[in-house]
Amino acid sequence: MNDLSIIKGDITCASVDVIVNAANPKMLGGGGVDGAIHRAAGPKLLEACKKIKSTNGVRCPFGEARITIAGNLPAKYVIHTVGPIYRQAQNPEATLKSAYFNSLQLAVENDCKSIAFPAISCGAYGYPLEEAAHIAVSTSMPFVKNGLRVVFYLFDESLVKIWKEAVSQIE
Ligand code: APR
Repeated sequence: MNDLSIIKGDITCASVDVIVNAANPKMLGGGGVDGAIHRAAGPKLLEACKKIKSTNGVRCPFGEARITIAGNLPAKYVIHTVGPIYRQAQNPEATLKSAYFNSLQLAVENDCKSIAFPAISCGAYGYPLEEAAHIAVSTSMPFVKNGLRVVFYLFDESLVKIWKEAVSQIE
């Protein structure tokens, strides 16, 4: 059964095995969904992030993903991924695709049965929404067909509409 759903709401309320954070390479928190997840998870999440190996201050390069505990969140793990900064990235499409792919792969490697994504790179990082939605849905679909429950938690109605359109184009 294909289990891909789209919910308008705050990802920190998602009842899934793993919640994905739209982080930055330093992985020390930030605004947007990064700020919301750290606030809801509590200080243990930042402690866990600080334990991730950093090379010149970079804990998670663009397009990669790292997994930590989830602190007070209703999830087992948080996967921190860093999407492309649209205007700066050499190949924003490939980087966004790998952010989703690496997050999905890491979730499966950690025996997660369900994962919640925000709209990665669609806020401060400025990714065009329709293109981001297509990448998010098309990258997730093979994992959904393989039994992973994927939920997109979107913060406003306009994004919900765009994601639903992307799903209808893929199916
Ligand atoms: N739940 C779900 N979605 C949310 C939430 C929330 N609580 N808060 C914000 N969003 C949405 C935004 O409205 C946007 O659609 O998440 C999407 C991603 O926006 P950002 O959080 O700005 O993430 P991104 O564009 O990937 O930029 C990452 O912003 O917060 C900093 O530290 C972060 O430097 C990094 C950059």
